[in-house]
Order: sequence, then structure tokens, then C-alpha cells
Amino acid sequence: MPTAILVGGQWGDEGKGKVIDILASQTDMVIRSQGGNNAGHTVVHDGTTYKFHLIPSGILFPTCQCVIGNGTVLDPRVLMEEIDGLHEKGISTDHLVISDRAHMIMPYHPVFDRLEEEARGDDRLGTTYRGIGPAYADKIRRIGFRIGDLAKPRFLAKKLKFVLRLKNEILRGLYDTELFEEDVILDEYIRLGEQLRPYIRDIFPMVQEALRADSKILLEGAQGALLDLDFGTYPYVTSSSPTAGGALTGSGIPPREVDSTIGVFKAYSTRVGYGPMPTELTGEVGDVMRERGAEYGTTTGRARRVGWFDGAVARYSALLNGVDSIALTKLDVLSEYETIRVGTGYFFRGEHFEFPMSNISHLKHCEPVYEDLPGWMAPIADAKRWEDLPAACQRYVERLGELIGAPVDLISVGASRDETILRKLPY
Ligand code: GDP
Ligand code: IMO
Ligand code: MG
Repeated sequence: MPTAILVGGQWGDEGKGKVIDILASQTDMVIRSQGGNNAGHTVVHDGTTYKFHLIPSGILFPTCQCVIGNGTVLDPRVLMEEIDGLHEKGISTDHLVISDRAHMIMPYHPVFDRLEEEARGDDRLGTTYRGIGPAYADKIRRIGFRIGDLAKPRFLAKKLKFVLRLKNEILRGLYDTELFEEDVILDEYIRLGEQLRPYIRDIFPMVQEALRADSKILLEGAQGALLDLDFGTYPYVTSSSPTAGGALTGSGIPPREVDSTIGVFKAYSTRVGYGPMPTELTGEVGDVMRERGAEYGTTTGRARRVGWFDGAVARYSALLNGVDSIALTKLDVLSEYETIRVGTGYFFRGEHFEFPMSNISHLKHCEPVYEDLPGWMAPIADAKRWEDLPAACQRYVERLGELIGAPVDLISVGASRDETILRKLPY
């Protein structure tokens, strides 16, 4: 049963794209199972940088079947642009397949995303404005459109008439803004549907066949556990389930087929958007860390919030996902610190806490408890083996593994593929 789930262990941007690219070389199928083009996965492959939003990070390997699963929400415009962009770089997408059950981001979804954020004022979430929340909300309300619907223009037109009545009513009455026209949407989406048709199909039979054939399957997570709709820092979360559980419903893989869960953790913390982040570093210390880590969003270009590694968050995330193996990234970014702090829990009103703290206001106002570890003050990007890492660096990695509660099998010390120490193949 060589099937593995790969999840982001923190607030997203842990370096999942890089790790997938490494594992994809010996994987038969990579499946994206949740999220949409809020994700931005960077892969530096043979000296070229690729930024994937919807397409699985295994696409650079022609032998790796890349599947966009039913649990995702897809903006067909963005999807087409991403496919065209790959063709321009000479990358084939013949091995890409899109589930006909995946829901579409309709042109009104990003508009509602923005309007709702503006209406929230000071309480806004800091979404990516890609229409993710509104698209998932419509899926749950059963007024969403699946990408397979593009092949059924009459059904699409009838349903859109009804849905647009609801949408335009709110746009007019509540927001007093521009309305959407059915024909304009239909023309554009049916045209996009024709272009995307070769990729769209029912993925159930092919996933079942892959399982039967004992193929190596990797489920590519987007976002991170702390952005999970149920278990993250609600309401400062995304609208899907970026956990191991979500990966299964988003792909149709039964739990008994899963062999291992790989958690990708960054050697420190970052977060984009609002919401609690107890170990956040603001001011100059934070600015230095942000520059060293080049922490600017792949999708929106926003400066990411940065902070020390939060062991309590990481342990919670490992328990929630059942992490068997850790891929630790961006260790090189910490090379110039004399002392490195690691959060192990929190104090709130004189009491010691650990995650889960479902009361968001406690998490906002708590004080982290830190453990100070000696830094190694030496570049490590050239390290190829565990033995090449300075002793203090090894101690740091081992301490994080202890706090998370799983072995650190892969260590990333730079953005490119060769800047990786593989202690053990995670699956
Ligand atoms: P993802 O969303 O989890 O795939 O992560 P992103 O691609 O959004 O952000 C990770 C960023 O860090 C990307 O720009 C990667 O190229 C870069 N990166 C990944 N691993 C390393 C590493 O070990 N060291 C450094 N310095 N950069 C890394
Ligand atoms: P990858 O896959 C980091 C954050 C947004 C915002 C919140 C809700 O690259 O790790 P949304 O647009 O999803 O409704 O925004 O979630 N967010 C991410 N942060 N990495 C991501 O993806 C993210 N996808 C969404 O910044 O705080
Ligand atoms: Mg990202």
C-alpha cells in the first residue's frame, strides 16, 4: 500500500512544493485533494523556478500521473493560464487529469470574497481574494458548479439562471454594486470547458486502478493544518480541510490504503493573513528573519508574518494528522542566529497551556514559553549528509523532532532539489 499523504504542518508555505518535487521522481501518481489557487507551491527544478497554484507539483515528471481531485475548487481561467504557462516552458501536461467532480470558482466568487472581507472591516481574515470561501460555501449549499458541468451547457444555463438571481439580489441590495450576466459567464466558461475537456474525467476508476496495481500514490496537501476549517484557528482559516482526513475525502482514497503521513514543517513559523500566531516576531527581528527566508507570498506577494518555531502548534498538528515522518525545510535560514528560540507552550492568566486552545482569544493574548538553543552560526546549504551538519544544528533538528513527535527524515537546506539531506525515504 505505498500511498502517502503529505500535509503542511503549520500555516502553509512550509515548502510542500519542493518536497513533492523530490518525492515525485519515484511516485506514479500525485493527487491534489483540497484548496484552490489560494495555494502557491514553488518548485526550483533544474535551475528554473515554477510556481504552481492548481497543478500538482509532480507535473515536471512525465511518468508521474498528476490528478486534480474532487475536493479542490478550480478557477478555470487560472487553470488554463497555468497549463499554457507550462506549455510555453516546454512542459507537457499530457499526464494531467482533472476530476469532473471538482467545483468551479465562478466569476462572482472572487467578487464576493473581496466584498465580504471589506464588510468585515477590522475583523477581516486576510484571504487571498481568490474566491475560495464563497466557492466552498456554494458547494455546501448545493448551488455550486462542478467542472464536469461544462460539458452540459443546457443544465449549466438553467442552473446559472437560478443561482445568478440569488447572487445578483445580494450584489444589488446589500452591496449596491455591478451585477453578473448569465450569457457572458456561459460564453466564457463553455469556451474554457472546450479547452479543458481533454483533461476532465471521472477519476474514481483510475485511482482505483492505481490502488489495485499497487502504484505509488502521493496526496499533495495545500495550506497547512492550522488553516483547517475545523481544527485551525477559526475563523482565521481557509475553507477546506488541509489535514490527512481532508486528503482522503478530496481524492476518494479509503483510509486503509494509506501507508504513511508526511508532515512538512518549516524550521521556524510563518503565517499570511490575520489570526493568532503566538511566537510571532515583529519589528526589526522579524524583518531580518523575513528577508533571510525571502518570506513573501507566492500567490499574493504579501509579506509573510514570521516567528520562532512553535513546538506546541507542531505537536498538535502532528497528532491531528498522524504524522509518521517529518520533512523539515528552510533550516539554512536560521544559520546566522547565535541563539534560536523554540516555543514549547503558552502562559495565559498565570496558567500553562498547550494546543489545542480552541478559545481563539486566549491564543491571541497568551505568552509563549521558550526554550533557547544554541545556533550554529555557519552556512549549511552545501550539506549533503546528516554528518555534514554542525553539531548544534543536529541538536536543533533533533529537538524539533522530539517536540513534534516523529523522525525527521528529510532536511531541506535550500530551495533547489540538490539542497536536501535525505536520511530516509519518507515512504
Ligand atoms: P508551499 O506552499 O508549502 O509549497 O511553500 P512555498 O513555495 O509557498 O514557500 C516556500 C518557499 O521557500 C519557496 O520560495 C521555496 O522555493 C523556498 N524553499 C523551500 N525549501 C527551502 C529551503 O530549505 N531553504 C530555503 N532558503 N528556501 C526554501
Ligand atoms: P499554500 O498551499 C499560506 C491563508 C490566507 C488567509 C487564509 C484564508 O501555498 O501553503 P483563503 O483565500 O484560503 O480563503 O484565505 O488562508 N492561505 C494561505 N496561507 N499558504 C497557503 O497555501 C494559503 N492558502 C490560504 O492567507 O489567511
Ligand atoms: Mg505556498
